[in-house]
Amino acid sequence: MAKEKILVIGASGQIGVELTLALRKIYGNANVVASDLREENELLKGSGPYVSLDVMNKEMLHVQVIRQNITQIYLLAAILSATGEKNPGLAWHLNMQGLLNVLDIAREEKLNKVYWPSSIAVFGPTSPKKNCPQQTIIEPITVYGISKYAGEFWCNYFHQRYGVDVRSIRYPGLISYKSAPGGGTTDYAIEIFHEALEHKHYKCFLKEDTYLPMMYMPDAISATIRLMEAPAEKISVRTSYNVSAISFSPKEIAAEIKKHIPDFTINYSPDYRQAIADSWPQSIDDSVARNDWGWKHEYDLSAMSADMLQNL
Ligand code: NAD
Ligand code: SER
Repeated sequence: MAKEKILVIGASGQIGVELTLALRKIYGNANVVASDLREENELLKGSGPYVSLDVMNKEMLHVQVIRQNITQIYLLAAILSATGEKNPGLAWHLNMQGLLNVLDIAREEKLNKVYWPSSIAVFGPTSPKKNCPQQTIIEPITVYGISKYAGEFWCNYFHQRYGVDVRSIRYPGLISYKSAPGGGTTDYAIEIFHEALEHKHYKCFLKEDTYLPMMYMPDAISATIRLMEAPAEKISVRTSYNVSAISFSPKEIAAEIKKHIPDFTINYSPDYRQAIADSWPQSIDDSVARNDWGWKHEYDLSAMSADMLQNL
Protein backbone atom coordinates (compact mmCIF):
# COMPACT_ATOMS: atom_id res chain seq x y z
CA MET A 1 0.00 0.00 0.00
CA ALA A 2 1.33 3.46 -0.93
CA LYS A 3 2.33 5.59 2.05
CA GLU A 4 -0.67 7.64 3.09
CA LYS A 5 -1.05 10.29 5.75
CA ILE A 6 -4.67 10.84 6.70
CA LEU A 7 -6.38 13.80 8.38
CA VAL A 8 -9.75 13.08 10.04
CA ILE A 9 -11.74 16.29 10.64
CA GLY A 10 -14.47 15.90 13.26
CA ALA A 11 -12.64 12.95 14.83
CA SER A 12 -14.21 13.36 18.27
CA GLY A 13 -17.75 12.80 16.95
CA GLN A 14 -19.95 9.72 16.75
CA ILE A 15 -18.40 8.37 13.54
CA GLY A 16 -15.03 10.09 13.88
CA VAL A 17 -13.85 8.18 16.95
CA GLU A 18 -14.53 4.75 15.48
CA LEU A 19 -13.37 5.64 11.97
CA THR A 20 -10.11 7.12 13.30
CA LEU A 21 -9.40 3.98 15.34
CA ALA A 22 -10.20 1.76 12.33
CA LEU A 23 -7.97 3.82 10.00
CA ARG A 24 -5.14 3.71 12.55
CA LYS A 25 -5.31 -0.09 12.50
CA ILE A 26 -4.93 -0.09 8.71
CA TYR A 27 -2.48 2.77 8.10
CA GLY A 28 -0.60 2.86 11.43
CA ASN A 29 -1.25 5.11 14.42
CA ALA A 30 1.23 7.82 13.42
CA ASN A 31 -0.25 8.11 9.92
CA VAL A 32 -3.78 9.08 10.98
CA VAL A 33 -4.06 12.59 12.43
CA ALA A 34 -7.27 13.14 14.40
CA SER A 35 -8.63 16.69 14.56
CA ASP A 36 -11.69 18.43 15.96
CA LEU A 37 -12.98 21.73 17.24
CA ARG A 38 -13.69 20.13 20.60
CA GLU A 39 -11.23 18.32 22.80
CA GLU A 40 -9.80 14.93 21.91
CA ASN A 41 -12.22 12.11 22.69
CA GLU A 42 -11.11 9.89 25.60
CA LEU A 43 -11.09 6.80 23.36
CA LEU A 44 -8.58 8.44 21.00
CA LYS A 45 -6.15 9.59 23.68
CA GLY A 46 -2.77 7.89 23.40
CA SER A 47 -3.63 6.13 20.14
CA GLY A 48 -2.10 8.66 17.72
CA PRO A 49 -1.62 12.34 16.83
CA TYR A 50 -4.33 14.91 17.59
CA VAL A 51 -4.60 18.55 16.51
CA SER A 52 -7.18 21.12 17.48
CA LEU A 53 -8.62 22.48 14.23
CA ASP A 54 -11.57 24.51 12.95
CA VAL A 55 -12.50 23.42 9.41
CA MET A 56 -13.88 26.92 8.81
CA ASN A 57 -10.39 28.38 9.20
CA LYS A 58 -9.13 27.53 5.72
CA GLU A 59 -5.66 29.00 6.24
CA MET A 60 -4.97 26.98 9.36
CA LEU A 61 -6.38 23.86 7.73
CA HIS A 62 -4.12 24.41 4.73
CA VAL A 63 -1.10 24.88 7.01
CA GLN A 64 -1.85 21.61 8.80
CA VAL A 65 -2.25 19.72 5.51
CA ILE A 66 1.16 20.97 4.31
CA ARG A 67 2.93 20.66 7.67
CA GLN A 68 1.73 17.11 8.27
CA ASN A 69 2.22 15.96 4.65
CA ILE A 70 -1.43 14.93 4.45
CA THR A 71 -2.46 12.81 1.44
CA GLN A 72 -6.11 12.06 2.33
CA ILE A 73 -8.82 13.92 4.24
CA TYR A 74 -11.92 12.42 5.88
CA LEU A 75 -14.28 15.33 6.57
CA LEU A 76 -16.85 14.48 9.26
CA ALA A 77 -17.51 17.90 10.80
CA ALA A 78 -21.16 18.88 10.23
CA ILE A 79 -24.38 19.91 11.93
CA LEU A 80 -26.97 17.12 11.72
CA SER A 81 -30.67 17.18 10.92
CA ALA A 82 -32.37 17.99 14.23
CA THR A 83 -29.76 20.50 15.44
CA GLY A 84 -29.70 22.06 11.96
CA GLU A 85 -33.38 23.00 12.18
CA LYS A 86 -32.62 25.03 15.32
CA ASN A 87 -30.00 27.12 13.54
CA PRO A 88 -30.39 26.77 9.76
CA GLY A 89 -27.90 29.53 8.90
CA LEU A 90 -25.13 27.98 10.96
CA ALA A 91 -25.85 24.47 9.60
CA TRP A 92 -25.69 25.71 6.01
CA HIS A 93 -22.52 27.69 6.68
CA LEU A 94 -20.59 24.87 8.37
CA ASN A 95 -21.83 22.05 6.14
CA MET A 96 -21.11 23.96 2.90
CA GLN A 97 -18.06 26.09 3.66
CA GLY A 98 -16.32 23.27 5.55
CA LEU A 99 -16.68 21.04 2.48
CA LEU A 100 -15.60 23.76 0.03
CA ASN A 101 -12.50 24.50 2.14
CA VAL A 102 -11.50 20.83 2.06
CA LEU A 103 -12.22 20.37 -1.65
CA ASP A 104 -10.23 23.49 -2.53
CA ILE A 105 -7.22 22.39 -0.50
CA ALA A 106 -7.48 18.88 -1.97
CA ARG A 107 -7.34 20.40 -5.45
CA GLU A 108 -4.46 22.77 -4.65
CA GLU A 109 -2.36 20.17 -2.83
CA LYS A 110 -3.30 17.34 -5.22
CA LEU A 111 -4.42 15.07 -2.36
CA ASN A 112 -4.87 11.40 -3.23
CA LYS A 113 -8.42 11.07 -1.85
CA VAL A 114 -11.15 12.85 0.09
CA TYR A 115 -14.04 11.25 1.99
CA TRP A 116 -17.19 13.22 2.83
CA PRO A 117 -20.45 11.64 4.01
CA SER A 118 -23.85 12.59 2.72
CA SER A 119 -27.09 11.26 4.23
CA ILE A 120 -30.49 9.74 3.56
CA ALA A 121 -31.64 13.25 4.52
CA VAL A 122 -31.13 14.30 0.89
CA PHE A 123 -34.43 12.55 0.16
CA GLY A 124 -37.70 14.35 0.76
CA PRO A 125 -41.42 13.67 0.84
CA THR A 126 -41.59 13.26 -2.97
CA SER A 127 -38.93 10.50 -3.02
CA PRO A 128 -40.15 6.87 -3.02
CA LYS A 129 -40.79 5.67 0.56
CA LYS A 130 -39.72 2.07 0.05
CA ASN A 131 -36.44 0.89 -1.50
CA CYS A 132 -35.63 4.45 -2.49
CA PRO A 133 -33.32 4.21 -5.53
CA GLN A 134 -29.92 5.79 -6.15
CA GLN A 135 -31.37 8.19 -8.70
CA THR A 136 -34.85 9.52 -8.05
CA ILE A 137 -36.79 12.68 -7.20
CA ILE A 138 -34.77 14.48 -4.53
CA GLU A 139 -36.47 17.42 -2.80
CA PRO A 140 -35.17 17.68 0.79
CA ILE A 141 -37.10 19.76 3.34
CA THR A 142 -34.44 20.20 6.05
CA VAL A 143 -31.47 22.58 5.86
CA TYR A 144 -29.30 19.55 6.62
CA GLY A 145 -30.73 17.66 3.62
CA ILE A 146 -30.36 20.70 1.37
CA SER A 147 -26.72 21.12 2.44
CA LYS A 148 -25.98 17.43 1.84
CA TYR A 149 -27.57 17.46 -1.62
CA ALA A 150 -25.67 20.61 -2.61
CA GLY A 151 -22.51 19.06 -1.15
CA GLU A 152 -22.96 15.95 -3.30
CA PHE A 153 -22.94 18.12 -6.42
CA TRP A 154 -19.87 20.04 -5.25
CA CYS A 155 -18.08 16.69 -4.85
CA ASN A 156 -19.13 15.66 -8.34
CA TYR A 157 -18.04 19.06 -9.69
CA PHE A 158 -14.58 18.89 -8.12
CA HIS A 159 -14.16 15.38 -9.46
CA GLN A 160 -15.28 16.22 -13.01
CA ARG A 161 -13.58 19.59 -13.28
CA TYR A 162 -10.38 19.18 -11.24
CA GLY A 163 -9.98 15.41 -10.95
CA VAL A 164 -10.27 15.39 -7.15
CA ASP A 165 -10.87 11.76 -6.07
CA VAL A 166 -13.66 12.53 -3.61
CA ARG A 167 -15.96 9.69 -2.54
CA SER A 168 -19.15 9.70 -0.55
CA ILE A 169 -21.85 7.57 1.08
CA ARG A 170 -25.41 8.54 2.01
CA TYR A 171 -25.35 7.07 5.50
CA PRO A 172 -28.63 5.99 7.06
CA GLY A 173 -29.16 6.55 10.82
CA LEU A 174 -26.09 5.17 12.57
CA ILE A 175 -26.30 3.30 15.86
CA SER A 176 -23.28 2.95 18.14
CA TYR A 177 -22.20 2.80 21.76
CA LYS A 178 -18.63 4.21 21.78
CA SER A 179 -19.28 7.91 21.28
CA ALA A 180 -22.46 9.95 21.66
CA PRO A 181 -24.55 10.98 18.63
CA GLY A 182 -24.46 14.60 17.48
CA GLY A 183 -28.10 15.75 17.15
CA GLY A 184 -29.82 13.69 14.46
CA THR A 185 -33.42 12.55 14.03
CA THR A 186 -32.33 8.91 14.18
CA ASP A 187 -30.67 9.41 17.60
CA TYR A 188 -33.74 7.87 19.29
CA ALA A 189 -32.41 4.44 18.26
CA ILE A 190 -29.33 5.06 20.44
CA GLU A 191 -31.07 6.82 23.35
CA ILE A 192 -33.50 3.91 23.67
CA PHE A 193 -30.68 1.51 24.64
CA HIS A 194 -29.25 3.89 27.27
CA GLU A 195 -32.68 4.55 28.78
CA ALA A 196 -33.63 0.86 28.71
CA LEU A 197 -30.52 -0.03 30.72
CA GLU A 198 -30.71 2.93 33.11
CA HIS A 199 -34.47 3.39 33.66
CA LYS A 200 -36.18 0.46 31.93
CA HIS A 201 -38.32 3.07 30.20
CA TYR A 202 -38.00 5.32 27.14
CA LYS A 203 -40.09 8.28 26.03
CA CYS A 204 -39.68 8.24 22.26
CA PHE A 205 -39.77 11.47 20.22
CA LEU A 206 -41.03 9.60 17.13
CA LYS A 207 -44.31 7.71 16.62
CA GLU A 208 -44.27 3.94 17.09
CA ASP A 209 -44.71 3.13 13.38
CA THR A 210 -41.99 5.47 12.00
CA TYR A 211 -39.78 3.25 9.84
CA LEU A 212 -36.33 4.63 8.98
CA PRO A 213 -33.20 3.23 7.30
CA MET A 214 -30.57 2.40 9.94
CA MET A 215 -27.14 0.80 10.21
CA TYR A 216 -24.91 -0.46 13.01
CA MET A 217 -21.59 1.42 13.26
CA PRO A 218 -19.30 -1.53 12.41
CA ASP A 219 -21.14 -1.82 9.08
CA ALA A 220 -20.81 1.94 8.47
CA ILE A 221 -17.07 1.80 9.12
CA SER A 222 -16.72 -1.22 6.88
CA ALA A 223 -18.68 0.51 4.07
CA THR A 224 -16.52 3.63 4.35
CA ILE A 225 -13.24 1.75 4.22
CA ARG A 226 -14.43 -0.53 1.42
CA LEU A 227 -15.48 2.49 -0.68
CA MET A 228 -12.22 4.34 -0.02
CA GLU A 229 -10.10 1.29 -0.89
CA ALA A 230 -11.98 0.46 -4.09
CA PRO A 231 -10.09 1.10 -7.36
CA ALA A 232 -11.13 4.47 -8.85
CA GLU A 233 -12.53 2.77 -11.97
CA LYS A 234 -15.12 0.98 -9.79
CA ILE A 235 -16.60 4.27 -8.59
CA SER A 236 -19.45 5.12 -10.96
CA VAL A 237 -21.20 7.54 -8.58
CA ARG A 238 -19.34 10.77 -7.82
CA THR A 239 -22.22 12.44 -5.99
CA SER A 240 -22.91 9.95 -3.16
CA TYR A 241 -23.79 6.26 -2.88
CA ASN A 242 -26.96 4.88 -1.29
CA VAL A 243 -25.99 2.23 1.29
CA SER A 244 -28.44 0.36 3.46
CA ALA A 245 -28.63 -2.33 6.10
CA ILE A 246 -31.74 -2.37 8.33
CA SER A 247 -35.13 -0.65 8.45
CA PHE A 248 -37.19 -0.69 11.66
CA SER A 249 -39.67 1.35 13.69
CA PRO A 250 -39.51 2.43 17.36
CA LYS A 251 -42.10 -0.26 18.14
CA GLU A 252 -39.93 -2.96 16.57
CA ILE A 253 -36.70 -1.93 18.29
CA ALA A 254 -38.59 -1.72 21.61
CA ALA A 255 -39.85 -5.30 21.09
CA GLU A 256 -36.29 -6.41 20.40
CA ILE A 257 -35.02 -4.75 23.60
CA LYS A 258 -37.86 -6.38 25.57
CA LYS A 259 -36.42 -9.78 24.64
CA HIS A 260 -33.36 -8.85 26.74
CA ILE A 261 -35.05 -6.60 29.35
CA PRO A 262 -38.59 -8.02 29.80
CA ASP A 263 -39.88 -5.16 32.01
CA PHE A 264 -38.76 -2.43 29.55
CA THR A 265 -41.58 -0.04 28.61
CA ILE A 266 -41.90 2.71 25.99
CA ASN A 267 -44.30 5.58 25.38
CA TYR A 268 -44.47 7.99 22.46
CA SER A 269 -44.40 11.77 22.51
CA PRO A 270 -43.57 12.94 18.97
CA ASP A 271 -41.94 16.38 18.61
CA TYR A 272 -40.59 18.48 15.69
CA ARG A 273 -38.38 15.57 14.64
CA GLN A 274 -41.44 13.56 13.53
CA ALA A 275 -41.89 15.79 10.47
CA ILE A 276 -38.23 15.31 9.54
CA ALA A 277 -38.52 11.52 9.89
CA ASP A 278 -41.77 11.49 7.90
CA SER A 279 -40.03 13.25 5.02
CA TRP A 280 -37.38 10.50 4.66
CA PRO A 281 -37.68 7.11 2.97
CA GLN A 282 -38.35 4.04 5.11
CA SER A 283 -35.83 1.90 3.25
CA ILE A 284 -33.11 2.37 0.65
CA ASP A 285 -32.09 0.49 -2.50
CA ASP A 286 -28.30 0.26 -2.46
CA SER A 287 -27.80 -2.12 -5.40
CA VAL A 288 -25.43 0.31 -7.16
CA ALA A 289 -23.00 0.28 -4.18
CA ARG A 290 -23.31 -3.50 -3.92
CA ASN A 291 -22.51 -3.92 -7.63
CA ASP A 292 -19.79 -1.26 -7.90
CA TRP A 293 -17.60 -2.00 -4.89
CA GLY A 294 -19.06 -5.10 -3.28
CA TRP A 295 -20.83 -3.47 -0.33
CA LYS A 296 -22.68 -5.83 2.01
CA HIS A 297 -23.87 -5.41 5.57
CA GLU A 298 -23.51 -7.83 8.46
CA TYR A 299 -25.78 -6.70 11.31
CA ASP A 300 -29.56 -7.09 11.42
CA LEU A 301 -31.81 -5.65 14.14
CA SER A 302 -31.41 -8.58 16.51
CA ALA A 303 -27.60 -8.89 16.18
CA MET A 304 -27.20 -5.12 16.58
CA SER A 305 -29.48 -4.92 19.66
CA ALA A 306 -27.71 -7.81 21.40
CA ASP A 307 -24.32 -6.21 20.73
CA MET A 308 -25.46 -2.76 21.91
CA LEU A 309 -26.87 -4.12 25.19
CA GLN A 310 -23.80 -6.23 25.83
CA ASN A 311 -21.40 -3.33 25.29
CA LEU A 312 -23.22 -0.46 26.95
P1 NAD B 1 -21.04 14.38 15.23
O1 NAD B 1 -21.84 15.61 15.48
O2 NAD B 1 -21.10 13.29 16.25
O3 NAD B 1 -19.52 14.75 15.00
C1 NAD B 1 -19.12 15.87 14.27
C2 NAD B 1 -17.82 16.37 14.86
O4 NAD B 1 -17.42 17.52 14.13
C3 NAD B 1 -17.96 16.80 16.34
O5 NAD B 1 -16.99 16.16 17.13
C4 NAD B 1 -17.73 18.31 16.28
O6 NAD B 1 -17.05 18.83 17.42
C5 NAD B 1 -16.88 18.46 15.04
N1 NAD B 1 -16.96 19.81 14.47
C6 NAD B 1 -18.04 20.62 14.42
N2 NAD B 1 -17.72 21.80 13.87
C7 NAD B 1 -16.40 21.72 13.55
C8 NAD B 1 -15.49 22.62 12.96
N3 NAD B 1 -15.87 23.85 12.59
N4 NAD B 1 -14.21 22.21 12.78
C9 NAD B 1 -13.81 20.98 13.16
N5 NAD B 1 -14.64 20.08 13.75
C10 NAD B 1 -15.91 20.45 13.94
O7 NAD B 1 -21.48 13.84 13.80
P2 NAD B 1 -21.37 12.34 13.23
O8 NAD B 1 -22.63 11.64 13.55
O9 NAD B 1 -20.09 11.75 13.62
O10 NAD B 1 -21.42 12.65 11.67
C11 NAD B 1 -20.25 12.76 10.89
C12 NAD B 1 -20.67 12.98 9.45
O11 NAD B 1 -21.51 11.90 9.02
C13 NAD B 1 -21.50 14.25 9.22
O12 NAD B 1 -21.20 14.78 7.95
C14 NAD B 1 -22.91 13.74 9.21
O13 NAD B 1 -23.76 14.57 8.47
C15 NAD B 1 -22.74 12.40 8.53
N6 NAD B 1 -23.84 11.48 8.82
C16 NAD B 1 -24.02 10.98 10.08
C17 NAD B 1 -25.07 10.11 10.34
C18 NAD B 1 -25.31 9.53 11.71
O14 NAD B 1 -26.32 8.84 11.92
N7 NAD B 1 -24.43 9.77 12.68
C19 NAD B 1 -25.94 9.76 9.30
C20 NAD B 1 -25.75 10.32 8.05
C21 NAD B 1 -24.67 11.15 7.80
N1 SER C 1 -28.64 10.32 11.46
C1 SER C 1 -28.70 11.49 10.68
C2 SER C 1 -29.70 12.45 11.22
O1 SER C 1 -30.67 11.99 11.79
C3 SER C 1 -29.04 11.17 9.25
O2 SER C 1 -28.21 11.92 8.47
O3 SER C 1 -29.53 13.62 11.07
